[in-house]
Amino acid sequence: MTTDEKKNALQKVADEIAATGGGPLAAAGVNSVPGEGNPDAEIMFIGEAPGFHENEERRPFVGQAGKLLRKAIRDNGFREDEVYITNIVKYRPPGNRDPDPAEIAFFQPFLDKQIEIIDPKIIVTVGRFSMYKFLGPAAGITKVHGQSRTREWNGKEIVVFPMFHSAAALRDGKVMQMFLEDFKKLREILDKINKGQNIGRKMEDHQEAKEETEEQLKLV
Ligand code: URA
Repeated sequence: MTTDEKKNALQKVADEIAATGGGPLAAAGVNSVPGEGNPDAEIMFIGEAPGFHENEERRPFVGQAGKLLRKAIRDNGFREDEVYITNIVKYRPPGNRDPDPAEIAFFQPFLDKQIEIIDPKIIVTVGRFSMYKFLGPAAGITKVHGQSRTREWNGKEIVVFPMFHSAAALRDGKVMQMFLEDFKKLREILDKINKGQNIGRKMEDHQEAKEETEEQLKLV
């Protein structure tokens, strides 16, 4: 797809998200927050769900946690308009609670379509919920953060890079340190991918394969 075709396709997805009115999250004053960024992005950040400020501005990651994420993007030599930023869930859950499985399932086709259109080289999962999507529900953020993994996605190999959520980094100094350290690896990973070098482990050991199967069969 050309950049214009991707842009139009992403706009169509955004329109479809808006047309749902929020699905299971529909409520007065709740706005759609489809995501934003470069249709040709090599890196796609996927967070959890919009919060108060995101709902107000209809843009992802613009509150306190968002400011940290966006600063880390810039501090590591990327431009905000070079990447794509979105969430697992496209409307704000009441009181910023965690999205529930039905809400995640409702918005999954829209996110999958965004990933397919953008076709990024790296998916950075920001927080637990997007990590579960790619690494399975048994993945533990403390164990896997900052390590890239290669996953099969729609018949293609994609590199997934799990990170702590920037909101968790704001709450805990140690998490902040890990969040910032992990971020520094992104440029190197992207350079390696662009040079055709092998990245990360394939999900081929027993435990990970099991998790993957369970996720695909939706046993959990
Ligand atoms: N947290 C998220 O996960 N997403 C946002 O857009 C903002 C905060």
